[in-house]
Parts: sequence; C-alpha cells; structure tokens
Amino acid sequence: MITRREFLKFTSVAGAGMLFPGAIKLASAMGVPELAASPVLPKYVDALPIPGVQQPSGTFNGLPLYTVTMRPCQQKVHRDVPVTNFWGFNGVTPASSFDVNTGEPMYVKWVNGLPTTHLFSASIDHTLPGMAGQPEVRATVHTHGAEVPFTSDGVFTSNGGFSTLLPGQSATYFYPNIQRGATIWFHDHAVGIDRLNVMAGLAGFFIIRDPVEKALNLPSGAFEIPIVIQDREVDAGAQLVYPTVGDNPGVHPQWVPEFFGDTAVVNGKVNPFLSVEPRKYRFRFLNGSNARFYTLRLSSTQSFFQIGTDGGLLPAPVEMKHLTIAPGERADCIVDFAPVKGAQVILNNSAPAPFPGGGGGVPIPDIMMFKVNKPLSAPDTSSLPDTLRPVYDIPEGSSLMVRNIVMQEIEGPGGPLNMFLNGKGMMQPPTEFPQLGNTEIWQFINTTVDTHPMHIHLVQFRLLDRRPFDVAQFNLTGNIVYTGPPTGPDANEKGWKDTVQVPPGQVGRFIMKWVSFLGEYVYHCHILEHEENDMMRPYTTTPTVYYFAEGSCRPNFTPYLTFNNPGDHVAGCVITYMLGNGQTKVQNLAVPAGNRLTIAVKDFLGEADDAAHDFSAKVECTNNQQVVVERSMYFNYNGVWTGGHCVVGALMPQQQWFFAEGNCRPNYDAYLTIQNPGNTSSKVQVIYMLGNGSTKTQKLTVPAHSRSTIKVKDFLGEGDDNAHDFSAQVTTTDGTSIVCERPMYFNYKGQWTGGHCVVGAVGPAPTWYFAEGTCRPDYDSFICIQNPGPADAKVTVTYMLGDGTTKAQDLTVAKHSRSTIVVRDLLGTGNDAAHDFSATVACNNGQNIVVERPMYFNFNATGWTGGSCVMGSVLPDKAWHFAEGCVRPNFQSFITILNPDPGNDAAVKITYMTAAGTTQVQMLTVPKASRFTVNVRDVLGSSDDLAHDFSAKVETTNSVEIVVERPMYFNYNNAWSGGHCTVGFSY
Ligand code: C2O
Ligand code: CU
Ligand code: CU
Repeated sequence: MITRREFLKFTSVAGAGMLFPGAIKLASAMGVPELAASPVLPKYVDALPIPGVQQPSGTFNGLPLYTVTMRPCQQKVHRDVPVTNFWGFNGVTPASSFDVNTGEPMYVKWVNGLPTTHLFSASIDHTLPGMAGQPEVRATVHTHGAEVPFTSDGVFTSNGGFSTLLPGQSATYFYPNIQRGATIWFHDHAVGIDRLNVMAGLAGFFIIRDPVEKALNLPSGAFEIPIVIQDREVDAGAQLVYPTVGDNPGVHPQWVPEFFGDTAVVNGKVNPFLSVEPRKYRFRFLNGSNARFYTLRLSSTQSFFQIGTDGGLLPAPVEMKHLTIAPGERADCIVDFAPVKGAQVILNNSAPAPFPGGGGGVPIPDIMMFKVNKPLSAPDTSSLPDTLRPVYDIPEGSSLMVRNIVMQEIEGPGGPLNMFLNGKGMMQPPTEFPQLGNTEIWQFINTTVDTHPMHIHLVQFRLLDRRPFDVAQFNLTGNIVYTGPPTGPDANEKGWKDTVQVPPGQVGRFIMKWVSFLGEYVYHCHILEHEENDMMRPYTTTPTVYYFAEGSCRPNFTPYLTFNNPGDHVAGCVITYMLGNGQTKVQNLAVPAGNRLTIAVKDFLGEADDAAHDFSAKVECTNNQQVVVERSMYFNYNGVWTGGHCVVGALMPQQQWFFAEGNCRPNYDAYLTIQNPGNTSSKVQVIYMLGNGSTKTQKLTVPAHSRSTIKVKDFLGEGDDNAHDFSAQVTTTDGTSIVCERPMYFNYKGQWTGGHCVVGAVGPAPTWYFAEGTCRPDYDSFICIQNPGPADAKVTVTYMLGDGTTKAQDLTVAKHSRSTIVVRDLLGTGNDAAHDFSATVACNNGQNIVVERPMYFNFNATGWTGGSCVMGSVLPDKAWHFAEGCVRPNFQSFITILNPDPGNDAAVKITYMTAAGTTQVQMLTVPKASRFTVNVRDVLGSSDDLAHDFSAKVETTNSVEIVVERPMYFNYNNAWSGGHCTVGFSY
C-alpha cells in the first residue's frame, strides 16, 4: 500500500515549515533538497496584465497564417524585483491570445527560437519515458481542447514519431475551428519535458467565438478578461526555480511527482490587482499550473456565475460561491461588481496541495485583488441571460463500448517510481481504438490518493457521474465494488468538458462521441509531473465499420451498397458478405476521393431463390480512410408489394437491440434479421412487448459468421388488434454480440404497398429527434414509442412545424409496453408547410424509451406509394453524412433538417458530391425550433447520368446542432414505386 506520506513531495519546504512545522522533519528525513522560499513581496501592487491578441502574419493555402516564435524573454513579475527570465510565445508569457471565430479555419507556423540550453537544465530527467538520448531543448505546441487533425495536435507526427521542434525548426499546424465557441488554450507538449517548458512560460489562450455566444450580449471588450493562474517559485534574484533532485533519485534523479510553488502568478504577475468598474465582468479562468488545484472564492463573499466550461457555454448560468479548478480546466465566469462599489475584493484560494489530501505545498490563500475603484464609464448594458445555449446530453444508452482506465501510482523502496494508466505509459502502443461515430463510456478508476484531472485530446466529452469504490478490494481482485451511490456532475460541470477531476477512490465515467479526425492522440492526467511519468497513453481513432444484418439477392429484390468518401485520398474498402447458408464471400473496392460509388450486390453474389442469396454484410476501410456506407434495397415483395428501403449500417455488434415498431396485422409482414459476425454461434432471445401490455419471448441460435431471419408472424400469429402490434428487444444470452434489423413489408390500408427497414437502437434514451414528418394529404405519419423499462414513462412530443410554430403533446407509455401516436390526430391535415413537422420525443420522468417514426404515403399523389420508417436520432450534431441520394428522372430526393435549438437559427452548408466527381455547395438557414426541407432537384436538377447520383454532407457553420434525414421517393426501373427515409450519419 502506498501511503500519502510516502508519496508526498514538498517542493517548498521552508515556506511549508513556517505553517506546518512537522513537514520540515519529514522532508529532511526523505532527503528531499529544499527550495528556498520565494522572497516575501507586497501583494496587489502590480496591475493584472491583459494578454494581447495574436494577429495573422499572412496567408497560407488562402487562409490566415499566424507565425508564433518561442523565444527567451524577460518580464517583471513584480514591482520590487528585477526581471525574470522566461520563455514566451513571440517573447511574451502568457502568450497573446488567439481570438478567432467558429467556421474560420487558419494556420499557425510555430517556430522554435529557443536556445539549446534549457531554462531548467538541471531539472531535466533523462530517465523519464521518451527522454533517452534527447537533446535538452525541444518544444511542440498542443492546443488543449481543440478539435484538430492529429498532425496539428502537437503530440504525434504522421510518420509515427513524436512532434518535436528543435531550436531553429518550425511546423505549420492547421486549425479548422469547427467547434463551439470556447476558452481553449495552447501550451508546450514535448514528451518528457513539457512540465519544464510550461513552467518556463510556454502557454496562452486560444479563444473561439461563435454567433450563438455573440448573440447573448455577455460582458465583452474591456469587460471580458482571460485570467490564467499559475503557481511559481522564484529565488532571491527573481529567477524561476524548479526542483533539481528527485524524490526517488536512485531511479529518477530529477523527477518530482508534483511541483507546488509558493507564489500565485496571474497573467504573469505576482498577486496582481485589477481595477474594475462597478459592473459585470466576464473572466475566463484557466488553471495553468503544473499540479496545484485552486478553490476560488471572492472575499466579498458574493456569488458569481459560471457560464462556461472547457468546451463552451453551459445550458444556463450556475450561481457559485466557490469554484474548484484543476490544472488544465477552464471556467468562464461572470462577476458583478456593482454591489461592491468601492470595495477591494480578494480572490482567495483554499485548495489543499496536493488535492484533496493536502500537506504537500505551501498554501497560497491569496491570488489577486479586484479594486472596484473605477467610475462607471457607461451604463452596464451587458446581460446575464437565464439560459445560454442547449447542451444536448449524450445518452448512456447510445454507448457502444465501455473502457476501463485504471489509474495507479507505483511506489518503490526508495520512493515514487511512476504512475500508470492500465499498467502502461506513453511508450507502450495504444490499446484504445475508438471508431469515428461511435459513442463510448470511459471509466477512470482512481486507485490513488490524489484527485487527477483527466484530459482527453480531440473530443469534448460529458461527465456522467463519479462513484466511490473499494480500492483495496479492487487492488486484490480487479473487481469494482461500489461503496456508495453515484454522484452526478456538479451544476457547473453539466457542459462540454475536456478535463475532469477524478477524486481518489472513485470511478469517474465520461461519455464521448468520437468525431471528425482519424489519427493518433493521447489522454493523460493534466498534473504535468504525472503526465510525464507516466500517466499518459496514446490512443488511435479508426475508421467507422458498418454492419448490415439485412440484404437479399433473391429474385424480386435488388440490393445496393452505396459508398461516400468525403476525404482527400482514395479509400480501399472490403465487403464481407455472410450468407444465409453459412458461407462468406469477400469483395474489394476502391472509392475515389470526394466521391460516391455504388455496388450492385447482385453483380457479385448473383441471384437465386435460396438462403445462399440472403446476406449480411460487414464493410471496412483497409487503408485508414473514413467512408460512409448505406444499403438500399428495391423490391417487389412476393411479386405484389413494390418499394424500397435504405439504412446506414450499424456501427458495432452489440448484446442487445431495440425496436419500437412492428406489427403482425393482416397486410403486414415484419421480420427480424440477425447478423452474427462473430466466431462462435450466438444464443438470442427476442422479447416482444405487445400493444395490449403483455410480453412474449422467442429463442433461437444464430450460427457463427451468418445471418438468421425471423418472420415474426410465425411466432406471434396474425390479428387485427393491438395484441399484434409489437416492440421488440433482441438480446444475446451468452455474451456474444449481434447486429439486428427489422424489415417490414405491407399493403397499407389495402392501397399503398411497400416496405421499410430500420437498424435497431442499441439502447433506450431519454430524448429522440426526428427531422422528417408530414400530415399533408396522402401522407400518414406515426410515432411509435417503446418503453422497455420497469416504470411508466411520461413523454412529451414537441412538433416543430414548417411554418415556424410549435405544438406539444403529452402521453404516458406503460412499462414494458408500446404506444402509437397518429400524428394527424393532433396536427390535422393540410397541404402546406404548417403540416410538415419535425419532432422531439422526450421522456420527462427519468425513464428511457425507444422511438421510431413510420410514414405511409402516395407521393405527391403520383401513385408512387409506399412507406418509410426511421429510428430516431438521439443527439443533434454539427455534421451529418449521406452516402446515397439520387435525382435521376424517376427519383426524388429531399434533405430535411431539424434545428431543435429554441434560441438560435442554424447556418447550414450542404456539400453534394456526385458520382461524376463534381461537387456543389448550398448554403441555407434553418430558423430556430423549426424544420427546413431541401428538394435536391432544385439544386442539382435532374437527368439520367452519374452527375445525378450524389452523396451529401450537411453541416452547420455557426455551431448550432441539427438533425438531418433524407427522404427519397422513386419509381425504380419504372416498375417498383415507393419511398424510403434515412437518418444521416454523424461523426
Ligand atoms: Cu493540456 Cu495533452 O494537454
Ligand atoms: Cu489537450
Ligand atoms: Cu495525476
């Protein structure tokens, strides 16, 4: 067992000794050399410096280019001391801030203009991971919280090495700025040495602004100030000091497990003051310290309001009396000085160091002072709104994978050795390979006695909860035995985070959706001394893999796989077909860059009326490119019901799948198709939740590498009553994983024949979003709600109509049951935009549901009859992709967009990529809480050629999140009429 005493590090013994006399003895006993205390300096005599703003130096690839050189500089940290040597970006620390807008990409050329001798030469420890044989001075710049390609993330290079700039070298990084407005920051990230490079001054703010935030009228201009707090220690000559002898010098001669300075340095000054007017200010706080946490309070005892987290605005301001901020975290806060006119308000800190155990660093009770001594220059017209912007929850039920990350501190006989994540460090190859588009839960299991701020590059994630567990038990058995209930995020953590505190003896659960970029990134503890030895791990984002349970090459069925490659490189793909007879066939293809490609599956598998011509498919990219894949199928079911359906593949085999819709009434044939891509057979159980409140269970075995088809009527029988409406939960009972779809064929009301198909939902969720829906004549829209849980679900459906108005409907869905809403009953019928709708279906009593939207139609009374159905989407997002789309003469394609944000219009850009290799862009605005319909023919026209087969990317350029579907109607081969609808894929 490690005890705190064994693991403590006292970097500032003299100072600590004054307050904790016992500490001196302990430190001496450990043989730790003592840093002299910083000179005692009067507080609040220097004005708080306000970082300047970086200006572009030119352009590169047609975009703004900034040139920033790291070089030595000298700054005065206090009135009463001589200048201090620092390293600064363009010779300033903290650096001038980047101040940029969402949707405005840019480049930065980072130049290493540093000398070849380090400012902390004697503190460099060549025994740390990655340090062997390295030159003394290296630097690389990471922008913390930025969604950037990995080659611009500052850690890895494209050839697998670590990013490193030696003195004289430079690198140009791309910043797409595709994320929400947020306070992010940049700092050195050179492996094995960043704790010293950051200590030397290599850090600054990177502020991204978006129109949503700009519309809020928050305090701005002179009343918006970034504040970085860092603890430092200086010698009698005012030079920075850092320990030069390690805690366990026999193993790591220089490394100390935590640095705690004795002096607060704020924006580069020791305990500065800021003269303020009696009005509201916006302070963007950053804890830029190596290891010290701060619990901040205002000495006036007044409240302040936190409005933003690491990744952007909170849904609403949170009233705070105190704020605990860990290294790497940011807190965007509003302080109103109007009530304390004339006062001197000290920003106090009460956080122990180390956190939360204490006993290791000199307390720093005073950070800075606000002197409310300036006259009001003009009335304060800024606002602190009641709500800020929607922050959509990532539902736990959408997670495809849970990863455990065990946090350990390893103690040797002579002192601390290192710290690990899952027993590994930075130099071991990655063990986490998240796929783009997938949602995952990472459980950080803290077996140590410290709180560690865990940071993940690339993504902004959400904290689900923290929960205490029995550490001794875990160390012995590897089992997590919880010792108390979970605690949800604090009110000021209910936003997008990239760094979260995981307290000792607790499991912190983070949920994230992997998006945007393929490549090599890292996650780590943001206590820099921990990160460097060796609480940092590489991880790799990988291309999406698509699974299709359904597919048939029997006569009267024509399946296609449609590929979109939105990237710049040709994508090599492999399709593995798992046939109904147990055989497997493999097809290779190449999808050109920025293009779409259609595979007619019958060209490869042939046609015949046997199980060997039913297939499931798995589609993967073999050369690390990202593609989007859909499967469309056109049919004349039983030679009588014509139509088509289309889905984006499932992302990962799972142990359970949910379907809200399904029925065994006359004129409906529902199936469940189950793909088992695994190496062993799979025992499967289907629980049907019937419309009459009862349940029935069916069991089957699906062979390895194969697919099985259930015709549900064979089990439930047929009947024209609610006992023959069903929802289904398909579960494996032996731990294997499967993929499941539900095709349905029908003759709706004896008039409109067709079929539709959906991929199951991987889990229930509180809220579901639908972009498409209409109550025009000749369209019947339904909303089917499954409640698989043990308690009744209270549900509100909000319809956002095409005329900009909104209507709501409440209902209760009984436990283990399903309900069907006939949308027309509420919205009526009309041939106008007021009868087109988008919908959100939200459960408001803590239950989770599954929701689908079936629609039946006679398209524009053309006689193209059919039906479509989609599983709702659970998370509005900023970019949606469609592989399929066609505006040839017998095809109509639409893009329907829901903007669920009640306060902000969405600026939308649609990029059409045609099979002819051409690209076309459309810009439009979707008003707040509304829906918008694009008729793609209005943009691409129509004719019978490759230029009229398209893929599409639909993205917002102003950070408002949307949901997008693509309805299509057709008369396939002039013979099989119908329609289908597909929810886009977001990654
Ligand atoms: Cu703030 Cu990996 O960094
Ligand atoms: Cu980072
Ligand atoms: Cu740590």
